[in-house]
Amino acid sequence: MYPRDFADKAHLEGRAIVPQGDEFVIVAHAEAVAAANDPGRFSSRVSAHLQIPNGLDGKAHAEARALVDSYLAPGRVETFVPQFHAAADQVVGDALSDGAVTDIGALARLYAVVAMQGWLQWPEHLTQRLLDWIQDNDRARVSGDRQWTKRVAEEFDAIIRIAVAEAPVGSETHLLATGHGLSHEEVVSILRNWTAGDLGSMARCIEVIAVAFANAPELQDRVRVILKPGEHGGQREFEAIADEILRIDNPFVSNRRVTTCPVDIGQTHIPQGTRVHIHWTGANRDPKVFEGFDPQGHAKDNLVWGTGPHCCPGKALSMAELRAFWTEALARCEVVAVNEAGAKLEGVRSANGGWERSPARLVRRKTGGE
Ligand code: HEM
Repeated sequence: MYPRDFADKAHLEGRAIVPQGDEFVIVAHAEAVAAANDPGRFSSRVSAHLQIPNGLDGKAHAEARALVDSYLAPGRVETFVPQFHAAADQVVGDALSDGAVTDIGALARLYAVVAMQGWLQWPEHLTQRLLDWIQDNDRARVSGDRQWTKRVAEEFDAIIRIAVAEAPVGSETHLLATGHGLSHEEVVSILRNWTAGDLGSMARCIEVIAVAFANAPELQDRVRVILKPGEHGGQREFEAIADEILRIDNPFVSNRRVTTCPVDIGQTHIPQGTRVHIHWTGANRDPKVFEGFDPQGHAKDNLVWGTGPHCCPGKALSMAELRAFWTEALARCEVVAVNEAGAKLEGVRSANGGWERSPARLVRRKTGGE
C-alpha cells in the first residue's frame, strides 16, 4: 500500500499507531510530535552504521548538529542561490527544447544533482553516476533485497570518495573534509546524509509541487507572480505555499527510532528495544489537526521538515533550491494536467512516497520569459 493510503486508512479507522510485525508506525500528529521530541525514550541509534548526525543521540548529536548547522545556515546557503538558478536555467532550458516535458521526475532528478554539484562542487563526470544511483536506490529500497541495498550503499560511498578526492580547495566539500579534524568515515557519513536520500527527496518534492500546480492553475499563476525573476518579496509566501503542498502529499515518508524503555501510548504498549517509525506523511494528514488547504493556518503544525532535536537542518537549502527551480520553470512553462490531445494524465504513485510517474507535464509558455 502507498504510504499516503496506508496513513489515510489508519486515520479513517481512528488508529494513532499501527503495529507492523514487531515494529510500530506512528501516524497521528500528536503522537508523532511527542515521539520526535522525546529522544530519551525514542532513540535515533537505530543502525549499526555511522550516521552523522541522524543516528546520534544526546551530546554527540548536539556537537554534530552544531557542525552540520553551520554549513546549512540560511545565510551560508543563500550564497549558492546563483548556482541553483544556473542549474535550473540549464536543465529546464535543455528539457524544453522540444516544447514540452513529459517526464518531470527525470528533469527533477537532474536538477537535484546539478544544483547539489553547484553547492558542493562535485565533478561533472559524476552526474550520470549520481542519476543512476538515485534510481537504483529507490528500486533497492522498495525491493527489500538486503544485498542490493548494501551494493547501492557501497556505490554511494565510492562516489563520495571520488568527490572528496577531487574537491576544489575552498569548496564546501573540501572545507568539510579538511577543516574540522574529522576522520574519512565521518566525512563520508556527513556527506552521505546531505546527498544520498536528499537528492531523491528534492526531486520528489518538485514532482509533488508540479502536480499541485497542474491541478490548481490559479495557485500556479499566483506563484508565477510572486517568483518573478528579479523580485524577492514573494519568498515567504512561496515557502508557506510549498510547505502546505508538501504537507498534503509529503514525499519524505518516515524516520526510525528505537525505544530505550517500555512505552505506553494510549492503548498501545511498546516494549523496550522496539523499532518505531514516525510517519511524517501520515501525521501531516491527520484530520484531527488539518482541514483543507491553508498555508498560513497550518504552518505551525506542519511536519514536512520534522520536529524536535533531529528536525531537518537542510530546510533553508531545500527551499532555496525549490525556489530557484520554480522561478526558472514557471517563467518558461505552464504546468498542465493533460496530454497533447487534452486528455487527463494518469499518474502512478511511488511506494517510497510522492510519484513514480506524476500526472503533470510542462509545456512551453507562448509568452514565456525566454
Ligand atoms: C528536500 C526535501 C527534504 C525533506 C522533506 C527533509 C525532511 C527531513 C526530516 C523530516 C528530517 C527529520 C528526521 C528525523 O527526525 O529523524 C530530516 C533530517 C535531516 N535532514 Fe532533511 N529533508 C530534506 C532535504 C534535506 C537536505 C537537502 C539536506 C542537506 C543538504 C537535509 C539534511 C538533513 C539532515 C542532516 C537531517 C538529520 C538531522 C539530525 O538528525 O539532527 N535534508 N529531514
